[in-house]
Amino acid sequence: MKREATTVTNTDILLKNQVIIQDIKRANDEFYADNNRNRKYFIETYGCQMNEHDSEKLAGMLLQMGYEISPFRDDADLIIFNTCCVRENAELKVFGNLGHMKSLKRKRPELILAVCGCMMQQPHIVDEIKAKYSHVDLVFGTHNVHNFPALLNSVLNKRENLLVEVWDTEGDIIEGINVERRYQTRAFVNIMFGCNNFCTYCIVPYTRGRERSRTVESIVNEVKSLVADGTKEVTLLGQNVNSYGKTLDTPVDFADFIREINKIEGLERIRFMTSHPKDISKKLIDVMAECDKVCDQLHLPIQSGSNAVLKAMNRKYTVESYLETIRYAKEKLPNLGISTDLIIGFPGETEQDIDDTIELIKAVDYVTAFTFIYSVRQGTPAAEFDNQIPEDVKHKRFERVLKVLNAGVWQKMQGYVGEVMEVLVDDVSSKDESILTGRSSQHITVSFPGDSSLIGQIVNVKITRPKPFSLCGELVK
Ligand code: SAH
Ligand code: SF4
Ligand code: F3S
Repeated sequence: MKREATTVTNTDILLKNQVIIQDIKRANDEFYADNNRNRKYFIETYGCQMNEHDSEKLAGMLLQMGYEISPFRDDADLIIFNTCCVRENAELKVFGNLGHMKSLKRKRPELILAVCGCMMQQPHIVDEIKAKYSHVDLVFGTHNVHNFPALLNSVLNKRENLLVEVWDTEGDIIEGINVERRYQTRAFVNIMFGCNNFCTYCIVPYTRGRERSRTVESIVNEVKSLVADGTKEVTLLGQNVNSYGKTLDTPVDFADFIREINKIEGLERIRFMTSHPKDISKKLIDVMAECDKVCDQLHLPIQSGSNAVLKAMNRKYTVESYLETIRYAKEKLPNLGISTDLIIGFPGETEQDIDDTIELIKAVDYVTAFTFIYSVRQGTPAAEFDNQIPEDVKHKRFERVLKVLNAGVWQKMQGYVGEVMEVLVDDVSSKDESILTGRSSQHITVSFPGDSSLIGQIVNVKITRPKPFSLCGELVK
């Protein structure tokens, strides 16, 4: 749907939403009076923190409407699938679930089924839903999440069978929507939306639109209010945080922005992701070293250890420039935990390219790496490349890389034995209530025996034993 330019302001949208939210709340209160229970919602979220955050907004609006969260998906009166399309298997899972919903909807026709998120920004997906999944009630996209109350209201009043509203361009950033946060001690804060980089494999620029940053003031206010509610750690999110602030009326540099966040009283930890290797500055690394709250964590996705592949991916940096950034970062931040993303099986990739990737992995010494098999995304340039790699070859290469990665991470974990780490305690372990789990500054999961009263505190833990991807330890003073 093309949208016309309007002069509607952020406040107008919030006010209009409140009117609709109150209407739905009245209907839900009546439902409670008649049925002695609240209407329940369930949101199933796929994909990255951008979607997680949109789900938090949807949940915030639903709670205001008088809905209550359902512990089980299939018991809910309203089910929302917030979808991701970064790789094919994410899409397949959603279609599988939508298929399963058919019989549920037959049993309970009053059930409302909504699908939103990145997949919906692709016209061929919406066409498939219309053709094969007509039991869906509502489809909306990533650019009109703030309009959810009005969309839901139309569905509740059954104005249409299947209501589809997907905007093909991003609007202004809508501030001030209530969000329902998942954790108390740590929070994700979006500082920018969209992406301008058009890596040739990636669908995100097409589903999330162009890069736009929130103002420093609105982010600082959000972090302050989170801290007032007990948040100790924030992770600042964007697809390429190093270009934060470039498009603001008064441009702001990301490193200077971090200095501002570091000043917020009561906040204890700052993380950010994702840093794009083409835009990361030495100044940012200096600021990380200078600011006491910034964690010893750097997520710097390399994608491939071959310059030829990086060029075909349109990544705009080289293995050499990447390694120079890593060298400088390690020099300034000796305890730094570096993590990365890798794509295996990109069109044209050779066995030699994989050897080069393995060499790079060894040189950097990562604490974590997210490794993905290249997935063809319709509408991206790489989908049209004629040198695609056969699936079986991709899988063999993937196994080869994973073996080296896992061995490296295991060695790294063993190296932490004996060290005392500061751990922000998140929760008790799901398997054993006498064990607490939390994260070190490097973002490594650490578990140790302790009392649940420590949840939300930063404690010192001496590492006693490594696990393949995490650490065990004991509390020390
Ligand atoms: N903006 C971030 C990453 C966003 S997507 C960045 O540039 O680093 C997260 C990761 O998914 C990417 O880093 C990449 O490794 C992976 N990815 C994206 N598109 C993919 C595709 N078509 N196939 C396989 N992996 C992909
Ligand atoms: Fe995708 Fe590249 Fe943008 Fe990351 S920087 S979201 S990989 S296009
Ligand atoms: Fe995120 Fe997936 Fe969309 S990775 S931006 S939810 S395509």
